[in-house]
Parts: sequence; C-alpha cells; structure tokens
Amino acid sequence: MPVMLLNSVEAAKELLEQRSAIYSHRPHLEMARLSGFDEAFVLQQYNNDKWRQERKIISQDLSSRSVSKYNAFLEQEARVLVRAVTNNPSELNQLVTERIGTILIRVFYGYYVNDSDDPFLTLIRASMNIFSQAAASGVWAVDSLPIFKYLPTWLPGTGSLITAQRWRNLVCKAVWAPYSWSKKAFKTASSLTPNTCSTTLENLGEAISSEQEHQLAWAAGTMTAGGLETGIIGTLNFFLAMLLHPEVQNKAQEEITAAIGRDRLPTIADKPKLPYVRSIITEVLRLNPPIPLGVAHALSQHDIYKDMHIPKGTIVVANIWHMLHDPSTFPNPTSFNPDRYDNLPSKMEEVTNIVFGFGRRTCPGKTLAENILFIIAATVLATCHIRPKVNEDGTDVVTAVRYSSGMFR
Ligand code: HEM
Repeated sequence: MPVMLLNSVEAAKELLEQRSAIYSHRPHLEMARLSGFDEAFVLQQYNNDKWRQERKIISQDLSSRSVSKYNAFLEQEARVLVRAVTNNPSELNQLVTERIGTILIRVFYGYYVNDSDDPFLTLIRASMNIFSQAAASGVWAVDSLPIFKYLPTWLPGTGSLITAQRWRNLVCKAVWAPYSWSKKAFKTASSLTPNTCSTTLENLGEAISSEQEHQLAWAAGTMTAGGLETGIIGTLNFFLAMLLHPEVQNKAQEEITAAIGRDRLPTIADKPKLPYVRSIITEVLRLNPPIPLGVAHALSQHDIYKDMHIPKGTIVVANIWHMLHDPSTFPNPTSFNPDRYDNLPSKMEEVTNIVFGFGRRTCPGKTLAENILFIIAATVLATCHIRPKVNEDGTDVVTAVRYSSGMFR
C-alpha cells in the first residue's frame, strides 16, 4: 500500500479533519488482528457499528463535562505518587507505571491496584507490549500477504501464526479478566465507583445484549491499554524536563505559591490559576510527543489533493513530531521553553490540537490525559524539588538522555 506522510498542520487539517469522512479508516494490520486486536476500536474501520458504539461508551463517560467526576481520585493518586517517589526516587519508572496503571484500571473497571505485580496491571502491560510488536509495519509476512494466515501451522516458516495465537490468548485475557471482575463487583456493589464499566452497566440495565457487553469490555480494554504507555511517557518526560531545567521548576513553584499559597495542595479546579504549570505540560508534550507519528489513518476512496491523485487504501501518517518542531510556529523548536506560550490557552492549543491526533479518530482520552498530567505536575512541583543524584564528591550525576525507538517515544 502507498504511504503518505503529512508533515504540515495545514495538510493534516485539510485531509484528516475537513475530509475526515474518507480519511478515518485504519490500515488493515493482519498480524495485530490475528493477535487479538481485531475487536479493539483503535483498529476498527471508521464508522462501523463496533467503532461507533465503543467510542460512544467512552465519550459519554469521559466528555469534558463528565470526566470531572474522577478529579478527587486523580488528586489522591498524584499525592500517593509523590509520597512513593520521595521515599524511593531511584524507582521512579516503576512507581510511575504503577500509578498510571492504577488510575486507568480504577477509572475503567473500579478496581484498585495494590502492587506492581497486580495480575490485571501485568496483563494489560503485556498486551500493550504485544500491540507494539504486532502492529509494527514491514515485519510480518501476513501483513503483506493476508492469505498466509490460512497456511497450516505445521508448515515451516509459519511460526508467526503460532506466535499470533499465543498472543491472542493473552490479549483476550487482558480484556476479559478485568471486565469480568468489574461486572461481578458491580452486581455485588463492591467496585469503586464511579467507573466506566459500572456506569455503562447501570445505564444499559438488565436488557444488556451480549454484543453490547462485548463492546463495553473492548472499549474499556482499549482505553486502559491506550492510556498506559502514553500516560507513563508523559509523566516521565515531565520529571526529566524538571531535572534538566531547574529555572523552569523554580518559576512554576513561585506560580503555585502565589496562586494557591502553601496551606493546601493543588487540585484540578486550580488549572485556570496555574497557566505556567499548564505551559510546562504543553511544552513536555510538544518537545517529546508520546506518539510521534500518531496512529496511521487509511483512505477509504480515491481522492485528489493539490493535483495529486491519492489511491484508495493509502496509509496516511500524520508526522506529529515534525509539526511540533516546525520553527515557523515554534521558534528554536528543540529548546524546552514553556514561556513560548505566554501563559495563553490559545497558544497552548496549537500543541494540543496536534499532539492528540486529528479528525474523527482524535484521542478519546485527551481530557483525562490532560487532567492526569496536570495534577501530577502541580502536586510534584508544590511538594518537591527535582534534582539530579549527587556523586560522593558532591557533583551532579548527569546521565545522557536517550530514547528507544518504537511507536511510543
Ligand atoms: C499525553 C497523552 C496522550 C497522547 C499524546 C495521545 C495521543 C493519541 C494520538 C496521536 C492518537 C491517534 C489519533 C489519530 O488517529 O489521529 C490517539 C488515539 C487514541 N488514544 Fe490517545 N493519547 C494520550 C493519552 C490517552 C489516554 C490517557 C487514553 C485512554 C485513557 C488514550 C486512548 C486512545 C485511544 C483508544 C485511541 C484510538 C482512537 C481511535 O482509533 O478511534 N490516549 N491518542
């Protein structure tokens, strides 16, 4: 299939937003589908019934108005994170993973993760790891030759089909185990509420069909997995930015002290009073977008753009990283500079309108993600100074910053 890379915001808006009716399919990733993700709405074709119903469940629960019901819980978890990190700063990565996982599993299923070996958290992480491998392009023979999937697995060279079957079993478990727990807990009123599964089960009542239940389980599973890696990356990049830019950290701390004082901790309702903290999060997402090439779209019918013929089926990739490093919009794009937004929401939106993707496939977890990152940043800045580790001779340990390659960065 031809691939079209969109480097400009103008082209992304024209094609993925204004012409979204034909630019919102996903590429057919056979290996990912065989590995169990055929039901996940991130891979569903645009506007099919499953995709619409699953997105509807999520947009009802996480709309900007209704997502605030999770605020108190997010505030509590940001404080738990601060306490854990101050006790054990060298375990930052693991502690952030545990906290983001706890938040998502609690929001979608009403289940509280108590330790890093929790079976639901482990399963969801494993399924995300599988997704990154199975959705990698150019790796699997079955992606370019779908007929390959019908070969018997005793034939030499078909090892990937056996791998897909193994992965499929694990992915199904990652979706159905937490959902089954949540459904049972809903019936006995023992889950933490509100949560997406119990709210939806309550709305649908006794008349829920097995198809609706399937959609709910997959909607919750897709969201939990979709939010995990991005939430971890955003939070770790925030800590890194504060470590590298103490002057920014000081300025944010001054903003917090001036706006809310030192008698209480920040809350999500304080967002309007803390534009510099919001600018920091925006700049973290701009400099290191968690999904630098977005999630590929696919074109559902032939099209013409600026005299170019674009064939049906073309894979359309939004180069989010490039757009967020365009020097004409973001001067000195490689420097970390939250002041570039002048504390103005309209300037920050130039980033958030890109980093969460485009058109009808835009990220359904956007508001939740923004709330999570904001409250973690505000709580950490209100209570801690993030400093590098110090050598025995009193000098800072400065380690090189390196990123691994993959779908997430
Ligand atoms: C800073 C954090 C995040 C960033 C930067 C981000 C970014 C993105 C991007 C670029 C896309 C692709 C949009 C497109 O196709 O044009 C996407 C899709 C998606 N995101 Fe996020 N995301 C974040 C957090 C989350 C969270 C917290 C969740 C869940 C709670 C989530 C769930 C999803 C799902 C399920 C999709 C697929 C939507 C579809 O195919 O219809 N994301 N996200």
